[in-house]
Amino acid sequence: MPTNTMKAIRLHGHGGPEVLRYDEVPIPELEPGEALVRVHAVGVNPPDWYVREGMTNLPPAMRPPLGLPAVPGTDVSGVVEAVAADVDGLAVGDEVFGLLRFPGPEGGTYTASAYAEYVAAPASDLARKPSGVDHVHAAGAPMAGLTAWQFLIELGHDHPSPFQAAQHRPMGLNAERTVLVNGAAGGVGHFAVQLAKWKGARVIAVASAAHESFLRELGADEFIDYTRNRPEEIAHDVDLVLDTVGGPDSGRLLRTLKRGGALFPVFFAEYDSEETAKLGVTTSGTQVRANGTQLAELGRLLDAGTLRVAVDSTFPLSDARRAHERAARGHLQGKIVLTAV
Ligand SMILES: NC(=O)c1ccc[n+]([C@@H]2O[C@H](COP(=O)([O-])OP(=O)(O)OC[C@H]3O[C@@H](n4cnc5c(N)ncnc54)[C@H](OP(=O)(O)O)[C@@H]3O)[C@@H](O)[C@H]2O)c1
Repeated sequence: MPTNTMKAIRLHGHGGPEVLRYDEVPIPELEPGEALVRVHAVGVNPPDWYVREGMTNLPPAMRPPLGLPAVPGTDVSGVVEAVAADVDGLAVGDEVFGLLRFPGPEGGTYTASAYAEYVAAPASDLARKPSGVDHVHAAGAPMAGLTAWQFLIELGHDHPSPFQAAQHRPMGLNAERTVLVNGAAGGVGHFAVQLAKWKGARVIAVASAAHESFLRELGADEFIDYTRNRPEEIAHDVDLVLDTVGGPDSGRLLRTLKRGGALFPVFFAEYDSEETAKLGVTTSGTQVRANGTQLAELGRLLDAGTLRVAVDSTFPLSDARRAHERAARGHLQGKIVLTAV
C-alpha cells in the first residue's frame, strides 16, 4: 500500500523547462467514479508545455484558468491501486492506460495531473492496457492516438468544438482515398499514417528526411521531405490532408486537394474562405476528448500489431525538465515518455 505522499512534478510558476519541480505531495484522494492508478509511465504532449508556458499560444481571452501549483500531464499507463465504491469493471491490479480529464471542465481550472507516481483517474477515461504492449509504449498512445482517431475515424462525442461551430465529421477512408499527413513523424502524425493505412487509403507522409524509413515502415506509400520540396508542388488530387503542423503556412496545402477534398488542421490554422470556395474544398477541426471506449479500440489494434507506438525518448519522471528540453528541440519521431517506477 502507498504511504500518503508521493513524488510529482509541479509548476509553481510559468516559464521554461526549469519551472518543472520534483516535489513531495499528498497522494490524491479518490472521488466517486475514479480509480487510483499507480503510474508506471507518462506520455508527454504539447499541451504539457503550453500549460508550463502559461498558455501564451492562446489569445488572453481564450486562456483557461491555471491554478498553481499544478501537476501537468494527461497521459498515463499504470496499475489500479484502488477503486471508488461506485466504479464497476475495474479492479485492483488491472493494468490501464488513459487520457485523463481532457480538455477539462468548460471554463474550469486546469485539472490534469499525470506527472506523478499516483493519479486519481476518471474510470471512464481509462481502458485496459493492451497486454502485449509495455507501460512505456502504452503511455505514448492516449492523447496522440485519440486525436488521430477522432479526426480520422470517429468523433465519438457531441461536445461543441472551441474552434468551429459545425461538428467535425471524419471523412470515410478506403482504398479509393489518398490522405496526406503533414507532420507525419510526430505523435499524432505517426498514428494518423497507420490509421489511414488500416482503412486502406494511399498515404503521403510529409516530414523531414530523417523520418523517411520510419514512415515507410509504418506504411507510407510516398514520402515528401519538406526541407527539400514543397508538398503543394508535388502532391495533387489528395482527398484529405491531416495537417498536424497547422499555423499560418497551412493554407498552401489546400492546393494539394482535389475538388470535394478536405483539410483537417490538428493545430489551429485560418484559411481564406474565397480560396476554399474556389477550390471546392472544406476545412474542419476539433479538439480531442478523453474517451476510454475509443481507447479500448486503439488498444485492440495495438495488441493485434495493426498499430504501434513509436517512442522518441524516455526520461525518469524526476527529469521531466530534460523531457521538455527534448521536446523544445523538435523533430520528434513518435512520443516522449516519462518513467515513474
Ligand atoms: N486538436 C487537438 O485536439 C490536438 C490534439 C493533439 C495535438 N494537437 C496539436 O497538434 C500538433 C502536433 O502534435 P503532436 O503531439 O503530433 O506533436 P509532435 O509529436 O511534437 O510532432 C510534431 C511533428 O511535426 C514535424 N514538423 C515540424 N515542422 C514541420 C513542418 N514544417 N512540416 C512538416 N512536419 C513538421 C516534426 O518533425 P520533423 O520536422 O522532423 O518532420 C514532428 O515530428 C501540436 O501543435 C498540438 O498542440 C492538437
